[in-house]
Amino acid sequence: MATPVTVPELRNRKAGHGEVPLVMITAYDAPSARIADTAGVDIILVGDSAASTVHGQPDTLHITMDQMVSHVAAVAGTQPRPLVVADMPWLSYHLDTAETIRNGARFVRAGAQAVKLEGGLARIPMIRALIETEIPVMGHLGLTPQSVNAFGGYKVQGREASVAARIVEEAIALADAGCFAIVLEAVPNSLAGRITSEVPVPTIGIGAGPACDGQVIVFHDLLGLSGRVPKFVRKYADLEKVARDGVARWASDVREGNYPSDGESYGG
Ligand code: KIV
Repeated sequence: MATPVTVPELRNRKAGHGEVPLVMITAYDAPSARIADTAGVDIILVGDSAASTVHGQPDTLHITMDQMVSHVAAVAGTQPRPLVVADMPWLSYHLDTAETIRNGARFVRAGAQAVKLEGGLARIPMIRALIETEIPVMGHLGLTPQSVNAFGGYKVQGREASVAARIVEEAIALADAGCFAIVLEAVPNSLAGRITSEVPVPTIGIGAGPACDGQVIVFHDLLGLSGRVPKFVRKYADLEKVARDGVARWASDVREGNYPSDGESYGG
């Protein structure tokens, strides 16, 4: 069995220090976890994007702890080599530190090795509480999708100097609090570069340009299983078409009496 990826080895993976960029992709179930693992990624994020990619909801505010725990268990059950990071859903880490720890622990018991949560200074007490409970934490700044209503939509964050300065301050605070990596979502390239050079832990970008220490993408967006995708997505396959063609060929074989054959049936 291949050696599993660990938090301590990821903590120092700064591309700017000559390391190979980190690769993280979302997965929500056993098949997507197996594909991510055998493709050789470093980190599997069981993202709350499952709300839209899998459950057909309009935003990530609509997924619960119970649903996320079930996704984490399905991914971790494949015993993948990449680090499994569980995304803490909205309201699972906002109320108090005790509730945050309880929810983080549910993810660890389901098989995650770390959790990710969104937000800056307001989240520092929860981040410290998780880390003191031996649960490693990945931060997430910029366009944090759980803030969609507060932001008034999915908009690039940090174009204004004051907002950019706040995000830099938050990234430094997250690293100081002990986050082992920080996702930067939908921020200008220049801001991502500034943060990446100022924090000692890896930044992992999504719509944040090439200056980050790694990249993360949503499985369904990368492989053509989502409808409309953001401009930063490059589609590497059209699985929706491949799957539709397969189902359509099977349906037509059934209708024309070509399926099942004798070899596909039980005799006796
Ligand atoms: O849930 C998710 O897929 C994410 C990524 C966009 C980073 O948080």
